[in-house]
Amino acid sequence: MWGGRFASSPDTLMEAINASIDFDQRLYAQDIRGSKAHAAMLADMKLITADDNAAIQNGLGAILKEIETGQFEVSRSLEDIHMNIEARLTELIGDPAGRLHTARSRNDQVATDFKLWVRDQIDVTVEQIAQLQSALVAQAETGVDFVMPGFTHLQSAQPVTFGHHMLAYVEMLERDKGRFVDARRRLNENPLGAAALAGTSFNIDRNRTSDALGFDRPTANSLDSVSDRDFVLETLNAASITTIHLSRFAEELVLWSSAQFQFVTLSDKFTTGSSIMPQKRNPDAAELIRAKTGRIFAAQTALQTVMKGLPLAYSKDMQEDKEVTFDALDTLELALLAMTGMAQDLTPNPDALRKAAGSGFSTATDLADWLVRTLNMPFRQAHHATGQLVALAENRNCGLEDLSLQDMQSVEAGITKDVFTVLGLDNSVDSRKSYGGTAPENVRVQIARWKGLLT
Ligand code: ARG
Repeated sequence: MWGGRFASSPDTLMEAINASIDFDQRLYAQDIRGSKAHAAMLADMKLITADDNAAIQNGLGAILKEIETGQFEVSRSLEDIHMNIEARLTELIGDPAGRLHTARSRNDQVATDFKLWVRDQIDVTVEQIAQLQSALVAQAETGVDFVMPGFTHLQSAQPVTFGHHMLAYVEMLERDKGRFVDARRRLNENPLGAAALAGTSFNIDRNRTSDALGFDRPTANSLDSVSDRDFVLETLNAASITTIHLSRFAEELVLWSSAQFQFVTLSDKFTTGSSIMPQKRNPDAAELIRAKTGRIFAAQTALQTVMKGLPLAYSKDMQEDKEVTFDALDTLELALLAMTGMAQDLTPNPDALRKAAGSGFSTATDLADWLVRTLNMPFRQAHHATGQLVALAENRNCGLEDLSLQDMQSVEAGITKDVFTVLGLDNSVDSRKSYGGTAPENVRVQIARWKGLLT
C-alpha cells in the first residue's frame, strides 16, 4: 500500500508485532458496511462515478460472501482487515477499488468499524441481561412467600422472602442495562470522514454516511474522532459492573447450594460431579462466572493503560483496543447465558430456607418495634429490653416466640399477649410493607411491574 516510499519489506518480527488481521478480521462485516456507505456517499457527491460505485458495491458484496463462506484468504503482510479487503477488492474489480479510499483513512475507518461492532455487541448484551432478568422474575414468582434469612455481615439479620432476594438482582441488572444504553447513546456519533486526523479537502457529506450507518450525527472534531476510545472504555466499565453483579449472585449460588445451606438445588446441567467423591455436585458454572470477572476487569485496566497519556491524534497503541474488548464482551456474553440457564433451572428449597430463617432470633427487631409502637417506648430502650429477652430465650434454648407471657413480663411488665402476633417469620415478613420492603404483598406488585417492563 505504501511501496512507493519503501525500498525493503518489513522484518518478520515487524510483521508479527504490527499485524492485527489475526484478530481484527472479526470486524469484516462492519468494515464492509462502512465502505459501502462511504462509496455511496462519494458517488452522491460526484467524487466518484456511478459506475465506479456500482463496481465497488458489487465487489464488496462478493467479498462479504467469500468471508462468510470461508473462501476468503487473509494475508498477514496486508496487516489488517481494512487492507485485506481493499486488496481483494482490487483483485476483483481493478481500478475503481483504488478510488474507495478517497477522503478516508484507516484511522477514521477503524474508529467507525469498531464503534459499529461495539454498538452491535451492546445491543446483544442488553437483550441477554433482559433474559436473565426474566429468569429471575420467574424465580421470584415461585418463591414470592418463601421465607428465608436476610443477611448482613453474612449473619442472619431479619427474615426476607426469596422473591424479594431475586428481585434485588433484577434491580441491579436494570441499572446495568441502563449503563450500556447510556454508553451506546454517547457512542453513536459517526467518525467516518475525519480522515487521518484533520478532515479532508474533498466535498464530502458526513450526514449521509451517518444516516446510512445508523449514527445520530457526525462527530464534530476530526482529531477527537480518530483518537477517541471512550466508547470502548465506557462499555468495558458497564461490563465490569455487570460482571460484579453476576459474581455476587454466583457466590450466593455457591453458598446456597452447599450441604450446609441447601437453600437451592442447581440442576445437573450446570453442575459437575467429582471424580473421587461420589456424593458431590459442584457448582462449577457459578464458580467460573465468579472468576470470569477477572478477565473483564483486566480488559478495562489494559485499555485504560493504553489510552492514558497518548498524545492526539491516532497512535498505533490504539490497535491494542480490540483483543481485550473482544475477549471481555465474549466472556460477558457467556457468563450471562450460563447464569440465565442456571437461574432458569435452579430449585429453591422452601423448607431449608424457612428453617434457616428461624435461627438467630431473626424477629428480634419486630419485638423491639412492637415495644415502640404499643408501649410508646423509645427505640433505644426497646432495643435494650429485646436484648434481655433474646438472652432469656437463649438460656431456655428456644425461640422468642416460644417464651411465655410471664417470661416476657419479667423483662417488661407492659407486654401483653398481642406481642405474639408480630413474632414468628410470616408475621415478620408480612408486616414489612413499607415501599421497597420484603412483604409478599409488595413483592407481588414488583413482580407484576417487572413482567410489564420485560415483555
Ligand atoms: N489496524 C489499525 C488499528 O487497528 C488500523 C489503523 C491503522 N492506522 C495507521 N495509521 N496505521 O488501529
